[in-house]
Amino acid sequence: MDLTSHYMGINLKNPLIASAGPLTSTIKSIQRLEQAGIAAVVLPSLFEEQIRHEEQASPAINDLFPSATPMEKILEHDSRMYLDQIAKARAAVNIPVIASLNGCSQGGWTDFARQIEQAGADGIELNIYYNPPSLDITGRQVEELYLDIAQQIKSSVTIPVALKIDPYFSAFGHMARQFDQIGIDALVMFNRMLQPDFNLKTMLVEPRWPISKAGDIGIPLRWISVLYGNISASLAANTGAYDHEDIIKYLLAGADVIMLASALIQNGTDYVSVLLKGLEVWLKQREFTSLAQMRGAMSQQSVANPEAFERANYIRAVDGLKKR
Ligand SMILES: Cc1cc2nc3c(=O)[nH]c(=O)nc-3n(C[C@H](O)[C@H](O)[C@H](O)COP(=O)(O)O)c2cc1C
Repeated sequence: MDLTSHYMGINLKNPLIASAGPLTSTIKSIQRLEQAGIAAVVLPSLFEEQIRHEEQASPAINDLFPSATPMEKILEHDSRMYLDQIAKARAAVNIPVIASLNGCSQGGWTDFARQIEQAGADGIELNIYYNPPSLDITGRQVEELYLDIAQQIKSSVTIPVALKIDPYFSAFGHMARQFDQIGIDALVMFNRMLQPDFNLKTMLVEPRWPISKAGDIGIPLRWISVLYGNISASLAANTGAYDHEDIIKYLLAGADVIMLASALIQNGTDYVSVLLKGLEVWLKQREFTSLAQMRGAMSQQSVANPEAFERANYIRAVDGLKKR
């Protein structure tokens, strides 16, 4: 069975990538993922604040989270260690190693991308995580910020750059096209936005644990099926893939790769081989011999009038609920 996939200019043995998270944070666990069959890994993010921390010694973020252990831990992991980790991972495995840079402001930190390239990363995943803090900031300003940062990183390096974003733009499709036009090599859909909760005992704000749930695939599934065939950037599905059926659905929508974090955290690194087996069995049952034969088969390209189709589905769903 030919499971080979092509992602942001890199050839992969199959479409499964370990997403940034705890399982890609140690060399041992990256090696275990490779043994289980994963095609590539994305390292946990290096945050803009960590880079600035060294540049300017003004870690305002530490003042905001004086006792929050996870944030302290993140900040401990400084930029030099990050570069070492890229080089170590590159030497330890034969699969592509993608580094992750996480930031949301313009400025010098984006130059760090060059050092990531020199450390040996096969690509960069740029995670722009921005919640506009002020009511004065307009949608257009937010869009320009995203485009500027993406362009700065893209122009700093020769390795491919993927962009991990959230879907909360008024016209996500148009944004996707603009990212494509500035040369972004892949879109990773989507970032999970941290949702705050209030602890009523301590009266403190607490971030919720970002583990996704099975069934959380709807929003990326929709956008991948819309974008497939309409932009040249690769499409990575990244939310809620828990079993081989989720993977098949993402591929039918048009995903080039599927990224996994929560499912592997919950089931362990060996689960990769279970997912690959399930995918192969399904393909064989339907007499496909390669992923290329089924990729995008259920994308919007297969619908004559996508707008009417979407509207009709919406009405059908609402109407179905009323009749319950
Ligand atoms: C514990 C944990 C740590 C994560 N760390 C990062 C990170 O450093 N950088 C990043 O871009 N995403 C990070 N993520 C998000 C995942 O890479 C992934 O995008 C998200 O969990 C959705 O995929 P999933 O549904 O397979 O979990 C993290 C997720 C979890 C659960």
